[in-house]
Amino acid sequence: SARRQVKIVEVGPRDGLQNEKQTLPTELKISLIEKLVDAGLRDVEAGSFVSPKWVPQMASTSEVLSSPILRTLRNRHPTLLSLPVLVPNARGLQSLFTLLDSPPHSDEELPITSEIALFVSASEGFAKANLNMSISQSLAQLPPIIEQAKGRGMAVRAYVSVVLGCPFEGRVDGKQVAEVTKELLDMGAYEVSLGDTIGVGTPGLWEELLGEVTKKAPIEKLAAHCHDTYGTGVANVLRCVELGIPTVDSSISALGGCPYSPGATGNVSTEDVVYALESSGYSTGLLPAHTDSSKRWDDLAEAGERRDAFEKLAEVGKWVSQRLGRPNGSRAGQAALKR
Ligand code: HMG
Ligand code: MG
Repeated sequence: SARRQVKIVEVGPRDGLQNEKQTLPTELKISLIEKLVDAGLRDVEAGSFVSPKWVPQMASTSEVLSSPILRTLRNRHPTLLSLPVLVPNARGLQSLFTLLDSPPHSDEELPITSEIALFVSASEGFAKANLNMSISQSLAQLPPIIEQAKGRGMAVRAYVSVVLGCPFEGRVDGKQVAEVTKELLDMGAYEVSLGDTIGVGTPGLWEELLGEVTKKAPIEKLAAHCHDTYGTGVANVLRCVELGIPTVDSSISALGGCPYSPGATGNVSTEDVVYALESSGYSTGLLPAHTDSSKRWDDLAEAGERRDAFEKLAEVGKWVSQRLGRPNGSRAGQAALKR
């Protein structure tokens, strides 16, 4: 039977790097995006137009997106490659438009990005900490932003944070998550990514949450964004996908964390997610198609092309970990490179 497609949104260059204390060279950020695309990822979150006082690491987003390397990449994959960027407010959208309007943009050249990602919180405490707004203030500012982005032909994605727990308030009501999700879809977001910002989720908690959210929103419009603080990230991803979620956010080498979510670790690793899904009857688009109906990963030993593609992905995780001077956060990536 045909394998179900699961879309992977790589958030490493944004969620993964936004929390790094050391100032990272722009060249590293550009190379990371380039290598991720080269390994087959097609939805790569490239940065954010947030206040540099709040998240200094993302201050170079315009510079990253001005890179001739990335512009060439984007034009090489005209319909496939998406490099979404986070926008927190109208000011952020203006900065993005300034970039899109500035040289070397020509009529023939595609805009470097055609997608924005908005973000709101399911708890008041996190809304205040992350955006300095209440939930209703943050939602109220979005319709004109969405309208302007769509007016320029851009796609609009949205995140809801702290869907399974808040660092300041603890338990978060699934009904509240459902309400905010519905509002974002009604406003015109094509997809809402449910963020377990502090990574407390388990398969059981995700199932309960999705039961609540799908009373208000179709499962096809949801994505799972699992931080892996408690080591349940891959299990959560598998359960969400089994329940019908079509899109999963992950980060290479499990990089990441939100500066306003103390103690939370990075996202579930892209390598681990690809390994688990590709061995469980799903296709992520990153590895060549299975030629037989077997689900076993061991068959990679025979299917050299699939193994090579996975190792290529794993090499990106190894490379970026070395550049950042931290251990490789992907178990599957480490294992594959030890073989
Ligand atoms: P504020 O301090 O209330 O805003 O912050 P303000 O309007 O008073 O502005 C303060 C200064 O920032 C001013 O500069 C503004 O001009 C400037 P000054 O006059 O002092 O020189 N400013 C900006 N500069 C650049 N770009 C902008 C911008 N806006 C204002 N867009 C604000 C409010 C929303 C700006 C702030 O709270 C902010 O930037 N928050 C973003 C925080 C963030 O990026 N968090 C991480 C991303 S979300 C996440 O990681 C969760 C996710 O992964 C899902 C999950 O895991 O749950 C998506
Ligand atoms: Mg996140």
